[in-house]
Amino acid sequence: MQAGQVNPMDDSGFTETMLVQLARDARKASYAPYSKFTVGAACRAESGVAWFGCNVENASYPVGLCAERAAVAAAIAHGEKKITALAVAGGPADSDPDGSLRPCGMCLQFLSEFMVSDAKIIIADGSEGSIEMVLEDLIPQAFKLK
Ligand code: THU
Repeated sequence: MQAGQVNPMDDSGFTETMLVQLARDARKASYAPYSKFTVGAACRAESGVAWFGCNVENASYPVGLCAERAAVAAAIAHGEKKITALAVAGGPADSDPDGSLRPCGMCLQFLSEFMVSDAKIIIADGSEGSIEMVLEDLIPQAFKLK
């Protein structure tokens, strides 16, 4: 096991429900002293393994990293090539995840490099719920080099 990795519990890998729970857990490690908006994310790679990350802010505000990019970077850094689903849980610190959260534009462009256009994005909502959408609805015309 490596940092940021969780092994699949069976051959089919992590389900979307499990990814949401992982994102909720990853949110607990968020470093967000400036915005006090804490976010966790968990992605499933083609291998079936899940990788997670949280937002990491910085005193120089633009240097801060979003949870989605932290999770996907962990997967890529460990040799994964494709991400098949991503769950995000975030909202004001010490409150349940806000279902109206959406990955920011920078993260959507980053995700489109590694996810197929119909890959699921799942947003945690409240204490147990979640909302599903697909990447291409959030970024219909991502930039790609030919
Ligand atoms: N943030 C994320 O990590 N993911 C999102 O989907 C939205 C925003 C972070 C960036 C910053 O640390 C804080 O949330 C407030 O914008």
